[in-house]
Amino acid sequence: MSNFVLNVVKPVAKRILLAWEHLESGVSYDLTSSAFIEDPYRTYEQLRRKDPVHRMRLVEAWALTRYEDVQDVLIDHKRFTNAERNYDYMQYRTFLDLDPPDHTRLRGLVSKAFTPRAVRELGPRIEGLVDELLDAVAGKDRIDLISEFAFPLPVIVIAEMLGVPAEDRARFREWSDDIALSVNPLLNSEQIERVQQATEELFDYFEGIIEQRRQAPQNDMISALLAAEEEGDRLTHEELLSTLMLLLVAGNETTRNLIGNGMLALLKSPAQLQRLRDHPELLDSAINELLRYDSPVQIDSRNAIDDVEIGGKRISAGQRILAIVGAANRDPQVFANPDELDIGRDEVSHLSFGRGIHYCLGSPLAILEGRIAFTSLLERFSSIRLARDPVFKEQIVLRGVEELWVEVEH
Ligand code: HEM
Repeated sequence: MSNFVLNVVKPVAKRILLAWEHLESGVSYDLTSSAFIEDPYRTYEQLRRKDPVHRMRLVEAWALTRYEDVQDVLIDHKRFTNAERNYDYMQYRTFLDLDPPDHTRLRGLVSKAFTPRAVRELGPRIEGLVDELLDAVAGKDRIDLISEFAFPLPVIVIAEMLGVPAEDRARFREWSDDIALSVNPLLNSEQIERVQQATEELFDYFEGIIEQRRQAPQNDMISALLAAEEEGDRLTHEELLSTLMLLLVAGNETTRNLIGNGMLALLKSPAQLQRLRDHPELLDSAINELLRYDSPVQIDSRNAIDDVEIGGKRISAGQRILAIVGAANRDPQVFANPDELDIGRDEVSHLSFGRGIHYCLGSPLAILEGRIAFTSLLERFSSIRLARDPVFKEQIVLRGVEELWVEVEH
């Protein structure tokens, strides 16, 4: 198993590999078990306590669970690269998978659109969209908050920013979720095919829109990037396509999961939900706490460029490192009572948007969408209750529920 991207390991082989891990370190990290998918935090706690720099055998990688180690690796892009994800099945790299100077050049071309100031101007439009989505469910007393609300909101916002028709959002969801599978450390051949096919279809789709914008530029990001391509040496056509793909994909499932996981956490802690209703001034710290408590992105991956030591363990050049931000966010060295949801926390910040040069470009947008979404949901519904326990998707990196059924009173 030399490749990081593996076909699903057969059950017997899996048990042997996990037993080997356990023998070596006193703990094993079975990221395929349904108990782990339901509640990864118990496993993270064991890993952090018994073997915080953990050699995995099921996947060829090291798992880091301490806040300090995770943060150090993410900040140090000269020793830990994002450019070797062993993506031999991916034809294209986005700037998330590049090092400087290419990363700096491509991120620089789109960063203006995501500054806090530029994003603030989107506020009224996002409020309008949220109102439209909630108007559409007025009168219903049972709602799936994912399909009716948390899914369409970020797709429509990014589609409008890019300049692609928001009516195509059902297709974006499929492409976006299929392409996002590529962040997982374990993929089977059917999933690899889905990633490849979705990438091809999305690129074909973008080519059509790019051609239209070439004829008639508009005030959107596709036109702006196209102008940069036409200027000559600023980006190639392939880079234009992969940047559009990254922007379309990166903010969809993640923002959906902020709203889904965040709402679920509040519904499971009714006292905190009531506290937010009584103290709307806690909104910003509540969003941060929801991001910390059940992070939409659980793992950022890197490769060691040279041999390096972390926590007394020697990691060889080229080896994969899983910087588990979901675990770092629950490190008791940094957060008091880390397993408790406390929307008034003002401790050190979570790592859910990453750190260093790849720090989430869309974080101001995600936070704005979250602020407007939670404010409006609480204003519209005088009461929200879980209608049934939701099921988490079988995803290790992007954590979220497929459906979130709630009973509401208007
Ligand atoms: C709550 C929602 C979101 C979360 C939790 C999140 C999380 C992250 C994380 C952890 C990274 C760094 C990955 C790494 O270092 O390996 C990242 C990068 C990125 N995010 Fe987000 N994200 C969210 C929403 C968005 C939105 C709305 C956009 C806008 C389109 C966006 C665009 C990006 C881009 C372009 C990158 C790559 C940055 C780079 O490589 O320089 N994200 N995000």
